[in-house]
Amino acid sequence: MIGIFDSGFGGLKTMKAILQSLPEYDYVYLGDNARTPYGIRSQDIVKKYTEEAMHFLWDKQCRLIIIACNTASAEALRYIQQKYHSKLLKEGKRVLGVTMPIAEEAVSVTRTGRIGVVATTATIESQSFPKELHKLNKKIVVLEQPCPLIVSFVEEGWHMRPEARAILKKYLRPLKSHQIDTLILGCTHYSFMMKDFIRIMGKNCRVLDDSTIVAKSLKSYLNRHPEIERDLSKKKTRTFYTTGDCQKFASLGKNFLGFEIKNIEKAQLQEINA
Ligand code: DGL
Repeated sequence: MIGIFDSGFGGLKTMKAILQSLPEYDYVYLGDNARTPYGIRSQDIVKKYTEEAMHFLWDKQCRLIIIACNTASAEALRYIQQKYHSKLLKEGKRVLGVTMPIAEEAVSVTRTGRIGVVATTATIESQSFPKELHKLNKKIVVLEQPCPLIVSFVEEGWHMRPEARAILKKYLRPLKSHQIDTLILGCTHYSFMMKDFIRIMGKNCRVLDDSTIVAKSLKSYLNRHPEIERDLSKKKTRTFYTTGDCQKFASLGKNFLGFEIKNIEKAQLQEINA
């Protein structure tokens, strides 16, 4: 079983791209909609919520978990990998994040070395993207911009409204003036406004779609790790859990995923106190 975790709906876009490229596996999606947004919370809280989500997905027999949420990847991936290092090794389980593959793609496509990052406030404060980008190339110039309100527009299904577009334009103004040639959408929710990002940034800036990058990177990971791949079940099941409202998840989620969500259940996460 492959687990896909996000703070809400955003990871459904990642899941859609993963399902297109790797349809044969069984998937469990967990959206922590009841506690979204993560991007305005402290690192300790994001760690705690992510850890609770990992336990939930491990209980659902997930051998491989993709933390699709950039905020959780930036703030909690290393913590999870270190704290559960022996468990993961002993049980042949893996937890992967999204910031590294996205940074790798950005460095490989930039021509001028000027890369913009839009993300939640927590991801920007973690400096996760500049760290990953500079590991790959110290000379990269990174310009960052938090766009916190966009997550709420997407969670409400309001991202096609003119108000959302006007706010996005305002957020992107400083990045436009710094002549970046590549823009990282460092938040699962932002690619729902992909067309607006492309239109506002103009033809000289390439806007990277995080969901396709993550799907490509997962495919390559499974090719490089046959010992993990062969233990993943392959019955094409898709099960969805949300900590929020199941009906809302089903009705909004199908727009994000591209098909009707049938197997949806309420998730009760066990509280973990650090
Ligand atoms: N899914 C989160 C991310 O990718 C954004 C939403 C949130 O703030 O919870 O960063």
